[in-house]
Amino acid sequence: MHLLELLAPTLKAVHDGARERSGPVPAGEPGAVADSVRAVGEILPEHGIGGEQALVELARVFAAGAVDPAHPACAAHLHAPPLAVAVVADLVASMFNSSLDSWDQAPSATAVEAEVVRAMADLVPYGDGASGVLTSGGTESNLTGMFLALEHARRTAGNRTLRVFCSVEAHFSVGRSAGVLGIGEEFVTTVEVDAEHRMDPSALRGAIAEARVRGELPAVIIATAGTSDLGAIDPLPEIAAIAEEAGAWMHVDAAYGGGALFSRRLAPLLDGLSRADSVGLDLHKLGWQPVAAGVLLVRDAALFAPLARRAAYLNTEDDEQAGYTSLLGRSLRTTRRADALKIAVTLRALGRHGMGQLVDRCHALAWRAWELISVQTRLEPLQPPVLSSVVFRYLPIHGNPDLVNARLRRSLLRAGRAVIGRTELDGRVHLKLTLLNPHTTDAELTRLVADVVRAGQDEDRADVVDPED
Ligand SMILES: Cc1ncc(COP(=O)(O)O)c(C=O)c1O
Repeated sequence: MHLLELLAPTLKAVHDGARERSGPVPAGEPGAVADSVRAVGEILPEHGIGGEQALVELARVFAAGAVDPAHPACAAHLHAPPLAVAVVADLVASMFNSSLDSWDQAPSATAVEAEVVRAMADLVPYGDGASGVLTSGGTESNLTGMFLALEHARRTAGNRTLRVFCSVEAHFSVGRSAGVLGIGEEFVTTVEVDAEHRMDPSALRGAIAEARVRGELPAVIIATAGTSDLGAIDPLPEIAAIAEEAGAWMHVDAAYGGGALFSRRLAPLLDGLSRADSVGLDLHKLGWQPVAAGVLLVRDAALFAPLARRAAYLNTEDDEQAGYTSLLGRSLRTTRRADALKIAVTLRALGRHGMGQLVDRCHALAWRAWELISVQTRLEPLQPPVLSSVVFRYLPIHGNPDLVNARLRRSLLRAGRAVIGRTELDGRVHLKLTLLNPHTTDAELTRLVADVVRAGQDEDRADVVDPED
């Protein structure tokens, strides 16, 4: 069956399914969603039911049970509503199933990826020698960046132990990457942060000095440009200077904050980024791409050397010399989707200005949310927003604030009314709004904040009735 014939009934089923929800998330207990998926029937029947029916049935149930990131009350995670042009471009990538591990599976995808990498490198801004690769996201960018950094350090380490530094607020994938890469999580020093949750440069200096005393080699410093909760941006120029002094590789996890590069107003927040050896950016966050749309950039193409491989069935030297270049040697993966196509289409469609406007709008929404939260006596914001998130707490009249905040978030989920974030900062449970829908209106945001307050008040009342619950 042709794509066009399948698309119309599928989109209708998605529409019908979405209408079964009254809000951004299906109301009720979580098990109900799994029940509705099972109710569709056996996933592997002896005899198939046909493409259109399978699509329509599952697309409807999927849409009904999905969380809609485009809904204004969906504000928990870095879970962006994808742009329609990007979704359609992703379909084209799927149609050809291009795979970036060899030229003969992906001639145009290879060329498109090179252009996307160049465009993103220009934003950093990196010079002509820079290179990059599309990744599955921040996790893979951190893993790959750390792999390159550690391989680089091993050349001069002798028998010294390698040490990694990041802030206590760095993404958990940094520590786990150290485990995966065999140096061990215990060789990651988590450096203290300042009052605004940014890495403290003097604490970093101290930690490096201590590592040297132990005879270790400071191999890599991972700065975060946009922590997952607060969007805090580590002081990149100071960290770059420390890395240069220590001879350490600097990797910047800009999975969240990298999107600010599109905005001429916010880009200065990332000054110093170009001094990093490698940078990870995620366009499925502040870039409105369907997952996955990560980009890992390196200052100098030669830094990819440890990933280079010759595979007789993929990228022989004579083919490469004849111009059939493959991107196999830039990734930890072999088969790799043409994720660059949707990014290329989006960037051309909106331009830097259009992308910057979306970023600015989300930033403005976060400030508006902060204002709305600040004037509510029962809400307490943690600190003003940096990017597009705001972290706060509900202040209960009685009861344990951590429990009340956790419960009120679940009650909004159960009612199908809102998806808001929950995290822990300064040892206490906090709530979070991550605003990634640039089209959210002031009225919708006001309603969301009011819903949070109401859910908290309901918990207060429930506590009076049943304090043991
Ligand atoms: C700062 C930061 N780094 C890395 C990641 C991981 O990114 P991904 O989920 O795309 O692998 C996240 C995810 O939110 C993040 O916020």
